[in-house]
Amino acid sequence: MQGKTVIVTGANSGIGYVTARELAKMGARVIMVCRSQSKGEAARQRLIQEAPGAPQPELVLADFASLASVRRAASELLDRCPRIDVLVNNAGLFVSEPIASADGYELTFAVNHLAPFLLTNLLLERIIASAPARIVNVSSFAHVAGNVVIPQIASPQRPNIAQAYSDSKLCNILFTNELARRLKGTGVTVNSLHPGAVATNFAADARGMFAFFFRLARPFMLTPEQGAATSIYLASSPEVEGVSGVYFARKKPAKTSARAEDMRLAQQLWEFSEQLVHAKVATA
Ligand SMILES: NC(=O)c1ccc[n+]([C@@H]2O[C@H](COP(=O)([O-])OP(=O)(O)OC[C@H]3O[C@@H](n4cnc5c(N)ncnc54)[C@H](OP(=O)(O)O)[C@@H]3O)[C@@H](O)[C@H]2O)c1
Repeated sequence: MQGKTVIVTGANSGIGYVTARELAKMGARVIMVCRSQSKGEAARQRLIQEAPGAPQPELVLADFASLASVRRAASELLDRCPRIDVLVNNAGLFVSEPIASADGYELTFAVNHLAPFLLTNLLLERIIASAPARIVNVSSFAHVAGNVVIPQIASPQRPNIAQAYSDSKLCNILFTNELARRLKGTGVTVNSLHPGAVATNFAADARGMFAFFFRLARPFMLTPEQGAATSIYLASSPEVEGVSGVYFARKKPAKTSARAEDMRLAQQLWEFSEQLVHAKVATA
């Protein structure tokens, strides 16, 4: 990974932090995209301690609950990075109750899908110019319970918030598959993955049944190191050179739900997302 520039979102914690650290250890220039200045800077300092000799990691701030903040971060990333070899869309959350993003969309959908959709598209020209390059989208096995109903998926009034998480993770796979189709022939690959059930800060403050059982299962879960393995593999391994539009688990192609393979739905979600971010983005 020497000489390569890697961007990891949600890099201050859990799977994202380990992904950033391990790619830095391989020699990559790592840009950590984080929501909070204090948490981001603390993680950056920890990374410097844990990866001595690696290129200095850098910090860019972005709150994915605001599309304006995503645009500001993209512009800073473009200013700082003459090339972008790998983008790892890792940031994600699970909320306890229906709540609206700064732009008025359901928060889970906004943070887990719309923000990485916009960020990726704003960086896409630079990523294509850096080809061969890779985009890695952290989804989840939870996508199997997901459904994408347009336009309801964006509504902050939707009652079932656990369903919103599954839906957002299905969006990650549909986005991956549609982007892979659009990127054919560019030398840029895009894949999605399930990291496993991983003991991180994920859903730490959430309430409700899902969050309760998630916390109960914590002692039996994978470590963040184990959970980051597939992200690191897809970002760096020569074994997946040229592989695109595939969903992985445990570093192997894995089965998705039938809905995740629906390319008509993938295209509808793309067009709907374009409308919501108020921009025609990327090339078909
Ligand atoms: N843990 C699991 O078992 C599991 C299973 C399947 C999939 N995943 C996926 O793995 C990814 C990483 O999760 P994790 O388990 O490592 O959880 P984590 O430790 O909670 O890390 C999540 C990261 O996302 C960031 N984030 C959350 N809301 C954000 C916002 N509004 N703007 C910008 N960044 C935001 C968090 O920042 P803050 O620290 O500032 O909140 C944090 O850096 C997520 O996409 C999750 O859906 C996790």
